[in-house]
Amino acid sequence: MSVLQKNKSLKPYNTFSIDVTAKHFAEIFSEKDLVELLTSDLITEQELLVLGGGSNVLFIRDFEGLVIKISIPGISCVVEDNDAVIVTAGAGVVWNDFVTYCVQNGFAGVENLSLIPGTVGASPIQNIGAYGVEVKDVFSSCIAYEIATGTSRKFNFQDCKFGYRDSIFKNELKGKYIITSVSFILSKSARLNTQYGAIQDELKNRNILNPNISDISEVVSKIRVSKLPDPSTIGNAGSFFKNPVIDKVLFEKILDQFPDIVHFPVAHDRIKLAAGWLIEHCGFKGIIIGNTGTWKNQALVLVNHGQATGQEVYSFSEQIIDSVDAKFGVRLEREVNIL
Ligand code: FAD
Ligand code: EPU
Repeated sequence: MSVLQKNKSLKPYNTFSIDVTAKHFAEIFSEKDLVELLTSDLITEQELLVLGGGSNVLFIRDFEGLVIKISIPGISCVVEDNDAVIVTAGAGVVWNDFVTYCVQNGFAGVENLSLIPGTVGASPIQNIGAYGVEVKDVFSSCIAYEIATGTSRKFNFQDCKFGYRDSIFKNELKGKYIITSVSFILSKSARLNTQYGAIQDELKNRNILNPNISDISEVVSKIRVSKLPDPSTIGNAGSFFKNPVIDKVLFEKILDQFPDIVHFPVAHDRIKLAAGWLIEHCGFKGIIIGNTGTWKNQALVLVNHGQATGQEVYSFSEQIIDSVDAKFGVRLEREVNIL
């Protein structure tokens, strides 16, 4: 049984390093721990929050309920043939440890997702993505426990309703299930995804003509380190907002005024804009306001310069949303979960 702690500081449990307290806190290391917790009286009495690595959350107040920190370990190969392998990992496995395991064993599919912070269990929640790959591309299934009943259910690919930084776990089933393991289908023959300009440039710099998955993993890691702040030295939660997807009519109006706007077509009448570009063009890149601001190399990343409160970061994000709206007529949506 997991140990219940009271009035626990959450500062070490969120990458923004926001100093708030949880009324109750329990860390679970197995499905058995979780079932015991879910069937105890503690659950019915209070609000619950499931936490993995805390790398996609912003706490704006103390949490007056029970935080369940998921630390279920273990990686195993469950099915293998000549072409593919299914690997299952515990929800508490650090995502990048799982990527390293795959790269070292020659299992292709997640190398472009190297160095994304957080846990395996959170990876389907917002369908993590980077450099042309999303978790949905390798997702096979996951096991999740329903909080209301303490019973488990398997979710297949179709059940999860994945979208850009989205899944059923952020919508209809928000806060209802706890994922305990995820199974991924990986390929033994690499079909590499090198379409991103930054990946191609870095491969060229290294004179690599026929990259393998290990090369891609290294190159992606290098690009990420150059652009994104390391949460162990400067608090942040990665991209604070999603890249907005707008319709063509609005896009053409914006394009008339801002011909160099960074954009990517995602369907015949839908265009994705780079939120970082919009924020930079409102004059916010690298700005420091009190204890918060945006990162000098990536305006989409809001940071904690040391002593920021969640409220301070949140208010700054409101200011950014209003400025981008006033200038471009586009309202940014937060990617980070506000708690
Ligand atoms: P947490 O922050 O702990 O939780 C996130 C949400 O998932 C919460 O709502 C929580 O309740 C829920 N949750 C967590 N675990 C479970 C579970 N087992 N069962 C049910 N619900 C759960 N994201 C990307 O997609 N691409 C990137 O390139 C990327 N880069 C980043 C770079 C930096 C420097 C940082 C700090 C973050 C970045 N992120 C990126 C965001 C973050 O890494 C991902 O969202 C990650 O999946 C969060 O994992 P976590 O374990 O920290 O989740
Ligand atoms: N840009 C600017 N100014 C900025 C930042 C970006 O002009 O300050 C421009 C860049 O020049 C580039 C474009 O915006 O032309 C896109 O920038 P980048 O390649 O850095 O990617 P992004 O769209 O800002 C997205 C994800 C990241 C992911 C990278 C790589 C979202 C919300 N963010 O960022 O994910 O790592 O692509 O694929 O989709 C995250 O979700 O936390 C995250 C970091």
